[in-house]
Amino acid sequence: MIFTRAQHLKGEITVPGDKSISHRAVMFGALAEGLTEVEGFLPGADCLSTIDCFRRMGIFIEEPESTRLLIHGKGLHGLKKPADILDTGNSGTTTRLISGILSGQDFETILTGDASIQKRPMGRIIEPLSLMGASIESLNKNGCAPLRIQGRPLHGIHYTTKVASAQVKSAILLAGLYGDCPTSVTEPALSRNHTELMLRSFGAKMQTEDVTATIEPLPHLAGQKILVPGDISSAAYFLATGCITPNSEIFIQNVGINPTRDGILRVLKRMGADVTILSSDNRTGEPVADLLVKTSHLQGCVLEGDLIPALIDEIPVIAIMACFATGTTIIRDAAELKVKESNRIDVMVENLSAMGAHITATEDGMIIEGGYPLHGAVVDSHLDHRIAMSFAIAGLNADGETQIAGAECVNISYPGFYEDLKLLQQS
Ligand code: S3P
Repeated sequence: MIFTRAQHLKGEITVPGDKSISHRAVMFGALAEGLTEVEGFLPGADCLSTIDCFRRMGIFIEEPESTRLLIHGKGLHGLKKPADILDTGNSGTTTRLISGILSGQDFETILTGDASIQKRPMGRIIEPLSLMGASIESLNKNGCAPLRIQGRPLHGIHYTTKVASAQVKSAILLAGLYGDCPTSVTEPALSRNHTELMLRSFGAKMQTEDVTATIEPLPHLAGQKILVPGDISSAAYFLATGCITPNSEIFIQNVGINPTRDGILRVLKRMGADVTILSSDNRTGEPVADLLVKTSHLQGCVLEGDLIPALIDEIPVIAIMACFATGTTIIRDAAELKVKESNRIDVMVENLSAMGAHITATEDGMIIEGGYPLHGAVVDSHLDHRIAMSFAIAGLNADGETQIAGAECVNISYPGFYEDLKLLQQS
C-alpha cells in the first residue's frame, strides 16, 4: 500500500462501530436469556473472532447484515463445551474477557490466538481468576496463550489491579457473575467502562464508585437491543489528518464520546485543534456526538497520568500529529504500549525515525520534537492495525512515497479504512 501527499481532505464520514462495545454485545447477548439485537456492529476480524468463539460454544448468532446481529442467548449456564480449541485471532479483548466467562463454566477449554496474541501477557488475568478458584494454565509456561481453562465454582473477591486495563477489569467482573458473593475491582485509574454500562443494561447489579466496580453474582440477564456507536479510536485517524492536512474539513458522524474514551478530544483541544462537537445525545446508553475537524495549527503538549487509559489506543496517531505540532510532545505513563498488538513504542520510533521525525523512546512513552517535515519511507505495520492506519495518515502528509508493509491488517478494526480515506481526497 503506497501513500503520497494529500492536497486536501474534505467530506463526511461514518466510522464503523465501536470495537470494544461490539465484542461485549456478542458476549453479553450470549449470556443473556432471549434475543439480543445488535445494530452498528463492527464486522472487523477481532469481533468476528468473538462471534466464532460463541458459535463454537453453541450460541446461535444470525448476521442478517454485516453490521446487524441477532444473538439467541442461552443464559449464564447455557454455553456448551466447544469441540475444539477456541481461536481468538489477534484479539486481546476476546482472549481476556472470554477467559473470565470460561472460568465459571463446568467444562475445560483451550484457547489461543495468532502469533501476537501468543506473546501478550495473560498473567494479569491468570492471577485474579485463579484467586477466584479457576484453574488456568499457560501451556507454554510463559504466562501467555495458549491457555487451558478449567472452570470451577468461583468465589467473589476484591481485587486491586496493577494496571488500568478494561480487559482485566472485565475478565474479573465476568467471572464475578459466577461467584458465591459480590466481586469488586479497583483500578489505579479508570479504564473504559463499557462492561459496567452494558452489563447493567442487561440487568446485572453493578455498582461503580470512583475507580471501583462491584458486581453481584448470578443476575438474570435479559436480551437487549444494542445500538453500537461509531468507534472514537477509528475516528481518531480522521481527527488527526483533518488537523494536519492543508485545506481540510471533515465531518465525522455518530462517534462514541464516553468520558473513559474521549482523551483524544481533550488532547486535541490542548494542542489547539479546530474540532467542534456538533450535537450529542445518549440514545445508545453511551454518549454519542458528531464531530467537525478543520486544518489547525497544533502545539506540542504533555500526555500523562489518568489521561493515558482514556486514549491508550490513539497514542500512535497522536505521535504522528505531534510531528506537525510546534514544540515538544512528551508521552509518559504509557508503558502499556509495549504489550499491545505490537510494541507500539518501538514500532512508532522505528517507523517515524525512518520518515525523518525527531522522536526518542523512553521507558514509558516517547518524546517528539515537532516541526521536522516527514519524508516517505518503507514502514512496517508489524501487523498492528493501529500502526498501519497511523502511517497511512503520516504518508498523506509526507513528501514522496510512503509504503506500508502488512497494510491489510486494518481489517482487524476498520475493514474499509483505505477506501474511506480515498473518498475524502476525491471530494
Ligand atoms: C479494550 C481495552 C484496552 C484497549 C483495547 C480494547 C477493551 O486494552 O487497548 O484495544 O475493549 O476492553 P487494555 O485493557 O489492555 O488496556
